[in-house]
Amino acid sequence: MSTSTVIRGGLVITASDETHADILMEDGRIAALAASHTPAAEALSAERTVDATGKYVIPGGVDAHTHMELPFGGTFASDTFETGTRAAAWGGTTTIVDFAVQSVGHGLREGLDAWHAKAEGNCAIDYAFHMIVSDVNEDTLKEMDLLVEEGVTSFKQFMAYPGVFYSDDGQILRAMQRSADNGGLIMMHAENGIAIDVLVEQALARGETDPRFHGEVRKALLEAEATHRAIRLAQVAGAPLYVVHVSATEAVAELARARDEGLPVFGETCPQYLFLSTDNLAEPDFEGAKYVCSTPLRPKEHQAALWRGLRTNDLQVVSTDHCPFCFSGQKELGRGDFSKIPNGLPGVENRMDLLHQAVLDGHISRRRWIEIACATPARMFGLYPKKGTIAPGADADVVIYDPAAEQVISADTHHMNVDYSAYEGKRVTGRVETVFSRGVPVVTDREYTGHAGHGVYTPRSTCQYLT
Ligand code: URP
Ligand code: ZN
Ligand code: ZN
Ligand code: ZN
Repeated sequence: MSTSTVIRGGLVITASDETHADILMEDGRIAALAASHTPAAEALSAERTVDATGKYVIPGGVDAHTHMELPFGGTFASDTFETGTRAAAWGGTTTIVDFAVQSVGHGLREGLDAWHAKAEGNCAIDYAFHMIVSDVNEDTLKEMDLLVEEGVTSFKQFMAYPGVFYSDDGQILRAMQRSADNGGLIMMHAENGIAIDVLVEQALARGETDPRFHGEVRKALLEAEATHRAIRLAQVAGAPLYVVHVSATEAVAELARARDEGLPVFGETCPQYLFLSTDNLAEPDFEGAKYVCSTPLRPKEHQAALWRGLRTNDLQVVSTDHCPFCFSGQKELGRGDFSKIPNGLPGVENRMDLLHQAVLDGHISRRRWIEIACATPARMFGLYPKKGTIAPGADADVVIYDPAAEQVISADTHHMNVDYSAYEGKRVTGRVETVFSRGVPVVTDREYTGHAGHGVYTPRSTCQYLT
């Protein structure tokens, strides 16, 4: 395996620049960049040269929201760290930040250790962890400090899922106060789960059991209300806040208002909210179950607000919330009762391509594509500039992207361990050709050349987006 490679002639795109440059990768890092066809570029030499003429050369994607092997609704997300990170590599993502889970009655450390055991030695690309906090108490709060020190610097809390991951406002406030002190970042699942559970019960009592009712009971107003409440709790605590999987126009408006007030409040959306809608949830013969996730898919009209938020920086990140469940045997657990359909969609392999299509569709610029998919998630979660950009000293996580190749997204050809694609039949232009992870080719000319165990755990610093 060569330890040095030069990539020549591509258009190097970062969040800030587009330049025709040659890149020298040495010992896992970017060693040098030089404008193509100049003496400086010709002086770059390596054991291996790759021609990227006509291609984009972009930082590897940073997917800050995945759930490999997540236990949910009596089953487990169908991608393991091995299959899920391989699929991520195929899709041009070279870092994931997955969620370790604290179970109620157990400690954060115990949950984190369990997730390390699932991931270690199995990943094709580098990985890090957030911590899901399901049980705020004195011990948990102390453990938060220790986790921040060792590189788990963000904590997800849930205003939804009473009895499972749910935290009440007091628990949320206490965790936010702690994060204000220790530099951690609270990530919020903002939906009013107490109210939603009442609506679920009432819908089922009326015989409304189909998947589409999942979308109807999880109302946009209840996402907006929770988003508002999370923002004000964070303001009272003096803590920054990152709201995950934002899907509703009204929730974006809450974020925009808070940001106009100068609050350190951030928002993430996901490809499913940008490209899918309640039309998918309403597909007949229980097919709608394939699109059950929370927050839910919204009517198409919400998409414009999400795209606008991404352009105006009221939303900063697009992650996948990759949480796949097979239609057969897993989504089917909810036949006759939508509330028993495991929540989550596959997508870790599709994010970079879908967002490139969004560039072609005129929603975002090329640099904004890289910013929301690579640079900002790296900054937000303390991985920059090691991850998320192409610059001397950065990890050599580099993707050669063919902007003209056409593909049709399909479960027949994807690499995620799930029996359907949420984007089945969608035509997109642009495709990953070659992927380097710390200088090692893990995908080479559309062939998988990586291996489980190449990816390493990557501790993180605290949020760098504010500094
Ligand atoms: O439906 C979803 N989003 N499943 C994954 C868990 C979560 O809430 O992010
Ligand atoms: Zn969530
Ligand atoms: Zn999630
Ligand atoms: Zn290796």
